[in-house]
Amino acid sequence: ESIIGARKADHIALCASGKVEFRQKGTLLDEVHLVHDALPERHVDSIDLGTTLLGHRLAAPVVVSGMTGGTPEAREINRDLARAAEALGLAFGLGSQRAMVLRPDTAATYAVRDVAPTALVLGNIGLVQARDMSSSAIRELVDAVGADALCVHLNPAMELIQPGGDRDFRGGLKVIERLVADLPVPVVIKETGCGISRSVARAVRAAGVTAIDVSGAGGTSWVGVETERARGPERLLGDELWDWGIPTGASVGLSADLGLEIIATGGLRSGSDVARALALGATAGGLAAPVLRARQEGGYEGALAFLRHIVAGVRALTFLAGCGSSAQLRSAPRVLGPTLRAWLEEAGRR
Ligand code: FNR
Repeated sequence: ESIIGARKADHIALCASGKVEFRQKGTLLDEVHLVHDALPERHVDSIDLGTTLLGHRLAAPVVVSGMTGGTPEAREINRDLARAAEALGLAFGLGSQRAMVLRPDTAATYAVRDVAPTALVLGNIGLVQARDMSSSAIRELVDAVGADALCVHLNPAMELIQPGGDRDFRGGLKVIERLVADLPVPVVIKETGCGISRSVARAVRAAGVTAIDVSGAGGTSWVGVETERARGPERLLGDELWDWGIPTGASVGLSADLGLEIIATGGLRSGSDVARALALGATAGGLAAPVLRARQEGGYEGALAFLRHIVAGVRALTFLAGCGSSAQLRSAPRVLGPTLRAWLEEAGRR
């Protein structure tokens, strides 16, 4: 099997195992307390969860975050998860399309449009890969899968731990500017578990980006994933950096007033987490590893049931917080804990 294929299989197995979550650091979403409304005066079924993300209408503010592609197993995972997203009116992200670049014969492992004809589908490529590609080659990746937007992922911490990973990150912002100008679909700047600071969000906004996926700390640790796979000196460094990153809740709150659409990913494990992220200013919540686990245990039906449960949680929290729509969560009464407040105050100054 190809080297990329072996890596993908490792990633799926490790992330599904639960062994590569952050160890000490959490998302800080547990420090968002929405205030209970004991007299809601509405029918729970009247709660409006409809959300516009990237110009696309979602039935609920939930994204299945990009995970995989490139192998036969990845194909089945993508198809099951895309079909579940389609059934529930959610968004679905493909994993990095780098394999497609290196081995065009893997394109079929990313093909989900036949099972998800109307879902918001997000393509995916790393910034370091995009740097070495022409805009037309990237456009072909988007077109080949019929993506509505392209997630460009940032992963400097992970690259440092990955044996043979990239070390030179110069010129990244220029690449983002180029992609925004050249691609016919929106570009979503996405981290991979370490979060996006306010200054990075401002920089990409100035480059023309209108949406970010914070992918913050507190869920799957990609430094952890690469640490588990590393054999050389990177292993020790990976162990040290395992919990590096901006907690997801902080990352969302820090960029909430910048006029960007924000997907809150990284350690969301329930509909309550999605609701809390919305209260901090996110447009939608994204989940990766827990959806993968549900699918690995229960196939398509397992993933569908899990996502239904997530949506039910968002609905319940919206209702109990006294809101008529999930969009109103943003201005719902809430109490923030001290660590989250400290992050928002001290990291929010620039
Ligand atoms: C990922 N993630 C990811 N992100 C990305 O931009 N491109 C990718 O190829 C992948 N691959 C990938 C594989 C697997 C198996 C997992 C679990 C995750 C990162 C993912 O989209 C998300 O940002 C993080 O995993 C944090 O969310 P969770 O897992 O804590 O819900």
